[in-house]
Amino acid sequence: MGAAVQALVGAQWGDEGKGRVVDALAKEVGVVVRYQGGANAGHTVVVGGKKHVFHLLPSGMLYPNRLCVIGNGVVLDPEQLIKEINELDPAPGDIGTRLAVSRAAHVVMPCHKRLDAASEAFRKKNDPGSVIGTTGRGIGPCYVDKYNRTGIRAEDLVSPESLEKKLRLNISEKNPVLEKIYGEPPVDFESMYRQALEWGAFIEPYLSDSSLEIASAVERGEYVLFEGAQGTLLDVDHGTYPFVTGSNCVAGGCCTGGALGPGRIGRVIGVVKAYCTRVGEGPFPTEDRGKVGERLREKGGEFGATTGRPRRCGWLDMTALRYAVMVNGMDVLALTKLDVLSGMDELKVCVEYEINGKRVSVFPNSAYALEKAKPVYESFAPWKEDISRCGSFEELPSAARDYVSYIERASGVRVGLIGVGPGREDTIYRDF
Ligand code: IMP
Repeated sequence: MGAAVQALVGAQWGDEGKGRVVDALAKEVGVVVRYQGGANAGHTVVVGGKKHVFHLLPSGMLYPNRLCVIGNGVVLDPEQLIKEINELDPAPGDIGTRLAVSRAAHVVMPCHKRLDAASEAFRKKNDPGSVIGTTGRGIGPCYVDKYNRTGIRAEDLVSPESLEKKLRLNISEKNPVLEKIYGEPPVDFESMYRQALEWGAFIEPYLSDSSLEIASAVERGEYVLFEGAQGTLLDVDHGTYPFVTGSNCVAGGCCTGGALGPGRIGRVIGVVKAYCTRVGEGPFPTEDRGKVGERLREKGGEFGATTGRPRRCGWLDMTALRYAVMVNGMDVLALTKLDVLSGMDELKVCVEYEINGKRVSVFPNSAYALEKAKPVYESFAPWKEDISRCGSFEELPSAARDYVSYIERASGVRVGLIGVGPGREDTIYRDF
């Protein structure tokens, strides 16, 4: 454990295995904060053979005595939150004192999910190339309301009068869009209002001023871990726009989504899978639609934790990883799912792109250039051995060690943790 305040972020398109890395750190961490995204995330942690999938609760919930914070930058789906809290039964420790939900977090309302689905259908009909392939969790429309300053925040759920006013206004703007633009039935105020009050009654004991919780924890010198959701290339500013999510997934997002002065971040951990995956639409230069992709998907269990969709798979992309290192200021990498590469007939890494006949080593921050990017591959020696029992770097086959060392050299960042299997114990630590 390096610094007192750390940000953990995905270096690719999400699904890098962040949940297991948070879980590995949670032993020493006092506070775990979610700072962006919502129930579109799916963080999987396997403990004692039991699989836990969290969409909203920070992964630290599996440890007793950890304070888990859902920050103001998160879009809160109360239905999902209530489900996850109930599923934690029996929760380790007293959940009432361990969970803090920001009063300022925006609430995903049923109309947001309706708008999410309707907007995707609208795009499909009018311009199929613009379909994002969202998770359908209402993320985009909820952030739209936040930035339009018409959103419902968690604190509104426990303030019936102002909730009524806000919801009426909000719905009177949304229903004409649903009906006239999307040809959908309108949403009903009464049922949504009643539902929102029920959610409020459940959530009220957890509501808090998360910025104060975080500031006090930092002040006390506690280890605070900011748990990023999705990944750098899905960031609304730094990702492959417009095929991105609605929030800032990069490390900087924890300053605004969780109330933290930038100077307080002591260490940025980048989580990178040993190969690449992407769910949803958008450019993916190393995607393999043939046998290699299929093999990675099967062996890696690459199906969406939130939607069950098969993930698109391909080789590791160093051009994209170097970019992620740059925009996040990554200090250390956690390399996950190295075991999935065991037994491959070949092993390749994309080292550069070719765009319009020119070799390019910098990830282009242009949707137009990225669309044309062709991967330039370097081959590595594959290994056949099962590595899931390897407890140290030295125990890995030499080809696997070479692969890890190459990633360190080419990214300029040390690999401090290596995942060699799905369980909590299948982890190699290298001064992490
Ligand atoms: P949204 O966040 O549901 O709006 O979806 C926008 C894009 O982000 C889609 O391509 C989704 O598949 C992708 N996405 C959202 N959350 C995750 C995640 O946790 N892992 C991987 N992809 C995600």
